Amino acid sequence: MDVIATIQDFRRARGRFGRLGFVPTMGYLHDGHLSLVRQARAECGAVAASIFVNPTQFAPHEDFSRYPRDMERDLALLRDLGTDLVFTPGVAEMYPPGSVTAVEVSEVSERLEGAVRPGHFRGVATVVCKLFNIVQPTRAYFGQKDAQQTVVIRRMVRDLAMPLEVVVCPTVREPDGLAMSSRNVYLAPEERRAAAVLYRALRQAEAAYRGGERAAASLRRIMRDTLAGEPLAEIEYVSVAHPDSLAELDAVIDGALLSLAVRIGRTRLIDNIPLPPDPPD
Ligand code: PAF
Repeated sequence: MDVIATIQDFRRARGRFGRLGFVPTMGYLHDGHLSLVRQARAECGAVAASIFVNPTQFAPHEDFSRYPRDMERDLALLRDLGTDLVFTPGVAEMYPPGSVTAVEVSEVSERLEGAVRPGHFRGVATVVCKLFNIVQPTRAYFGQKDAQQTVVIRRMVRDLAMPLEVVVCPTVREPDGLAMSSRNVYLAPEERRAAAVLYRALRQAEAAYRGGERAAASLRRIMRDTLAGEPLAEIEYVSVAHPDSLAELDAVIDGALLSLAVRIGRTRLIDNIPLPPDPPD
């Protein structure tokens, strides 16, 4: 496994491979990331990952400086999975002095997470675009856990005719349903117990949909009511949205995205469930 910190050296190493799967990460890897690496390896033969905590996707009051980092452990995990290349740039390599260019994927970036975290997806789209330019992947792998991120990136790839395929893999969960996230490490034991309410709320709404409920307002109410049963949970939003535009729905359609953002203590958690897609005709 080659661990490479500069764009120039990475490009040279990338030249040794044809098809290449790519898993961009901010490190502090968990089983969700590892499932992406496994799938990339199985589908593409060769796999590259990146580890870069991207400052431009954090607002000044957010957790950039305390975001968990453990490069040695991450590299050991990636090595065990047979990763071929790991790109580990510093901030100055990705954003040299004088960088003034950004990628803005409007509309889908402004809803849900984008409404609460203005500028977040501008930072994500910009760094992912740059990583794609450097890594030149055949396929890039993202987790369903960050559903809006996958919508923004798919749209960017389509709108800018980027020559790669975006693959979205299922959310990996703890036994109690909590979606795996590097930020789960912030949760104190009591908060960790409370955090299982996110998935419970989503599952309750999904069950109502499967039972025939088609009023989006009812599904939102079910999620709110379930979350309200957990005293440590403070709701930021609950949403039933169109899977492509992320616009809020009145009547639920097949494939709609149930999502929510909740604060448990000082930790902000997000999760989602895509409802089953349109049955084929
Ligand atoms: O999902 C993440 O970890 C980040 O948003 C990504 C895609 C690596 C960009 O910094």
